[in-house]
Parts: sequence; C-alpha cells; structure tokens
Amino acid sequence: MFITDIRKEFYEVVVNQRVALLVAPDIDAICACKIIQALFHCDQVQYTLVPVSGWQDLEDMLRFYRYFVLINCGANVDLLEMLQPDDDSIFFICDTHRPVDVVNVYNDTQIKLIIKQDDDLGVPSYDDIFRDEDDDNEEGSDSGNESEGSEPSGKRRRFDEGVGGTKVRWFYEGVCDKAISKLALMFHSFLRREILFDYEQYEYHGTSAAMMFFELAWVLTKDTKDMLWWAIIGLTDQQVHDKITHIKYVTDIATMQRHVSRHSHRNEDEENSLSIDCMRISFEYDLRLTLYQHWSLYESICNSSYTSCHFKLWTLNGQKKLQEFLADMGLPLKQVRQKFNSMDMSIKENLRDVIEESANKYGMKDIRIQTFGVHFGFKNRFLASDMVHAIAALLESTEKEESDSDNFIKALDSLSRLLHSGIDLAKKKLIAVQQTIASCICTNLILSQGPFLYCYLMEGTPDVRLFSKPMALTLLCKYLLKAFVHSTRNKRCRLLPLIMAAPKDVEKGTVIVVGIPPESETSDKKNFFGRAFEKAAESTSSRTLHDHFDTSIIELKTEDRSKFLDALVTLLS
Ligand SMILES: *[C@@H]1O[C@H](CO)[C@@H](O)[C@H](O)[C@H]1NC(C)=O
Ligand SMILES: *[C@@H]1O[C@H](CO)[C@@H](O)[C@H](O)[C@H]1NC(C)=O
Ligand SMILES: *[C@@H]1O[C@H](CO)[C@@H](O)[C@H](O)[C@H]1NC(C)=O
Repeated sequence: MFITDIRKEFYEVVVNQRVALLVAPDIDAICACKIIQALFHCDQVQYTLVPVSGWQDLEDMLRFYRYFVLINCGANVDLLEMLQPDDDSIFFICDTHRPVDVVNVYNDTQIKLIIKQDDDLGVPSYDDIFRDEDDDNEEGSDSGNESEGSEPSGKRRRFDEGVGGTKVRWFYEGVCDKAISKLALMFHSFLRREILFDYEQYEYHGTSAAMMFFELAWVLTKDTKDMLWWAIIGLTDQQVHDKITHIKYVTDIATMQRHVSRHSHRNEDEENSLSIDCMRISFEYDLRLTLYQHWSLYESICNSSYTSCHFKLWTLNGQKKLQEFLADMGLPLKQVRQKFNSMDMSIKENLRDVIEESANKYGMKDIRIQTFGVHFGFKNRFLASDMVHAIAALLESTEKEESDSDNFIKALDSLSRLLHSGIDLAKKKLIAVQQTIASCICTNLILSQGPFLYCYLMEGTPDVRLFSKPMALTLLCKYLLKAFVHSTRNKRCRLLPLIMAAPKDVEKGTVIVVGIPPESETSDKKNFFGRAFEKAAESTSSRTLHDHFDTSIIELKTEDRSKFLDALVTLLS
C-alpha cells in the first residue's frame, strides 16, 4: 500500500528497529541512501547497508532482518511472491520504477510504498484486478450486485476493443501497432489480464528516490544543505540518464529550487563567515557541455553528446563545422584547448554568453539547461550533471578488479569527499562513448531489423569492457541513437527504438542486452522492451537472465542471440 504520512508510517516505525537498507546500483539510489543514512545517524538507528544489483542478491538477505528499506528496487515486481519472506517481514519501498506491481499497491500488511501519489501512476482499481478472482468463467453475467456498483461501464469491455486499438497509444505510430496486437494476443485470455497488460506494458520512472527522502528529512526538520545537494544530484541523474521527461525534470527542478532558496536564506549568516569548507548551492542556467570546467572547452565540446550530434563530429564536414564554430566564438584557439582552469579570467567571465550566441547561430538553440551547481570555498565548482557522470564512472569502474560493492562504497563516499578520480574516469568513459559512436556510425554497425534498430558490439571492440556495465551501455545506447537520428537520411529509421548488445562475461559466454524507446523531443520515455524480452525469451527458450531491476536490461547466452532476436522481430513486426 502507499504510505501517506512518511513520518508516522515509515520513519517512526523503523526508528526503533534494526533495518536492512537495500540499495540498487544507480546514482539516485546512492543519493537517497546517503540522505537516509544521515537521518539514521542523527537518530542512532541501527541499520545494515547492502548494495544489491539484482534479485538474486535480495533473496540472500531475507533471513536476518524483519524491516527492510528498498531503494530503487522492488516496486515493479510482486515482491512477496518473488521473495517468499516470513509473514512478519515488512518492506518499505522507495523506488522510481513504474508501473508499481498491483499486489504491492494492494497489500497493506507487508508492503509499504514510499512513492509520490501525484505522479501519474494509473493503478487499476482493486475491483478490476482482484474482485473476480473466483468467478472468471461467469462470462456475460452482467446483472446482479456488481452492476449496481460505482463503475457500471468499462469493466466489461470486449477484449478486441481494448488492446491494439485506440487505448494503446504508441508514440511512433504505425511501426509497432502490429506488435502490440501480437503481444496482446498472448496476454489477453482474461479481462483482468487485459487491464493488467495495459497497465504493465511500458516501463518508466517516477519521482527521484533522493527527492523522496529529502522530503522526509524536511518533514522531520532535519534537512541539511548536504542532503539538499544529494537530492539535486539524484534528480539530475534522472535527467542525465534520460529516465524522465523534460516536463517532469523542469517541475522537479522548481521544487528543488524552492528548497535551495529556503536554505540560502537560512544560512546567510553562516555564509558571510566564508570559511574554506563553506558550501553554496546555486541555481544555474549552464551549458550542456559535459565536464567542461574540469577539462578544456575543446575536449568537452568534442566529447559531449549534444555538440557532437549537432556537428556530426564523426564526419569530416562536422570537424570542419566545429572549427568554424570555434572561430565564430572569437576565442583564441590556444585558450579553448587549454585546461579550463587556466583560461584567462577575462574570457571565462562571459564565456557562457559567448558560447550561447554562437551556438544559436549554429542551430543549437538549447545549449543551456536549468541545473544546479555547488561551490566549495572559492576554488571548487561542480555542476550537478558532472557529479552524476563522476559518480557513475566510479560505480561502474572497470579499471581495477574491484568488486561491485567496493565500487558502490567508493561512489557513495564520493558524495561527501570530492573524488577527482571520479572526474578522470568520467572523462575516459565519455571519450570511449564518443569513439564508439563514431566507429558504429562510420562502419554501419547499426542495422535496421524492421521494427527496431540493432547494434552489436563485438568482442575486441576498443573499450568494450566498459560497456558490459548496465548504466554505461544504456548511456551509450541513448547517445548512439541520438547520433544515428542526426546522421541517417532514412525517415522511418528515425522513429525506431534501438537494441544494443555487448559482451558481458566472455568465460560464461554471455552478452548484456538493452533496449531503449525511440528518440524524440516529445518522447514520454516509456519502454516496452521489458515485456518483449520476456516473451521472446520464453517463446525460444533462450537462456536469459532477467535479474536487473530495469526489465529492459537482460543477460543472454551468446549462442542464443540470433534466435532471440528473430523472435523479437516476429513479435514486434
Ligand atoms: C499480503 O501478503 C501476504 C503474503 O502473501 C498475505 O498473507 C496477506 O494476506 C496480504 N495482505 C493483503 C491485505 O492482501
Ligand atoms: C447481493 O447483495 C445482497 C445484499 O446486498 C447479498 O445478500 C447477496 O449475497 C448479494 N449477492 C451476490 C451474488 O453477491
Ligand atoms: C574527445 O576528447 C579527446 C581528448 O581528450 C579527443 O582525443 C577525442 O578526439 C575527442 N572525441 C571526439 C569525438 O572528438
């Protein structure tokens, strides 16, 4: 069930208990974790932190605790069915994964959802899902007590009218209509199934977990500036990794901005003391150039998805345009190519305006974006998006043979101690991403399979190990699709979703597969690949592992790749 009073129904319940804190490996979850840890320390709550990267990890944890707090995992599966916990175990779930499983919504004994209800949840009513459990075969008996209820129509819709028809609005019309009806055929043996199908077909994301816990801290009047910064990074993660719509981002940014101004008023006196560690959060209208303050302007322009796509930097013509653009800005090349930190102050002063002006001329109308920055003392300034890239690089580092949980702890630590190693790793990752994109496009590695685009990174591709990690592969996939849409002349291809596969574990002979929705300005970021992957695996008995919290990311035996893909094509054609 949904918790309505987060203080009474959640915090005051766990405050006297020993709690297991289970945290998924994403930046928003790490930020949420940091906030709840700070609250727990404040109130001396005993807890154990457990990084979990899949369902298997979760199952191992069950025996030792009664109270569980799950961050960014658990909402979108029938948790009780899956984990078979003891009857007295209680699960508090703060998770952005949508749709929320209906059993989780309606179980009020063991499941407590810390989820914003003003998000567009669209949960089917209890009656639609559970009431007819025992009399499904009573087709057509429309009379009787039921019809006197509050919802006379809608419930008894005919099967063929609901699925595949107008109710299902695919934003790239025509391409996948058939796919829906086919998928639907398999699902809709019962009316209940139909409603569930509608509800569960797309995966998407809701309000940031870090924001939810920041709100808790605020309700408890224990919120600090650090917590506020972590919540901002959590939200920014959703934007950087393209999990929420632009409208949702802008709305939530406004909420955070109100908190930022509240805090800066509260702490004005403190700030005047200007201590070295003094931390100041500011609302910025900054450039979409990744890590530019920690790089040279030139390298950042070359390696940011936004500029790289606009210039098509993988082409000679694009390189030429870039040079023209740099000339247009009127900045000395030497300055542009040297470290940002050592650029002349006079140039830095109105740099953003200069860049924006030239960018406008070159059709990059939205090179600026609303975001936040943090200043530590006088010297260090970080944009929230740069923090996201840095933490992500630490979290999925492949540099040394370190365990996932070592990487997790490092990523968690990087929120309180600025780890410059994270920034360096993030640069390497972005360079690898851009190089891979250039080579995929120049060697035509993106194939149209009919209903979707497909790109397979072969063993031996440079930096391929980096892309065995889910977040890195997803980011590559999103950037690659953007670049492809800019480079192809084929209009139909621009409307297609993309599936990418990369080697996961060479010894085990597995690949990691991720599917993303089509690239478009108005995209609602809803992803249907989770369901489609399940069906394709089932119908071909492919050896797949659906262990990731995002259902659109799976592992697959390399040998099963082609039959799995064939099934997907058939399913979605
Ligand atoms: C919640 O789930 C548990 C375990 O399946 C079950 O025993 C309990 O009756 C459920 N509660 C509700 C209200 O559905
Ligand atoms: C219909 O409602 C009446 C009273 O409201 C109740 O006694 C009866 O059992 C109900 N019948 C069915 C089939 O649910
Ligand atoms: C990214 O930056 C590196 C230098 O740090 C540069 O060698 C590379 O060419 C850049 N990428 C692109 C696509 O220009």
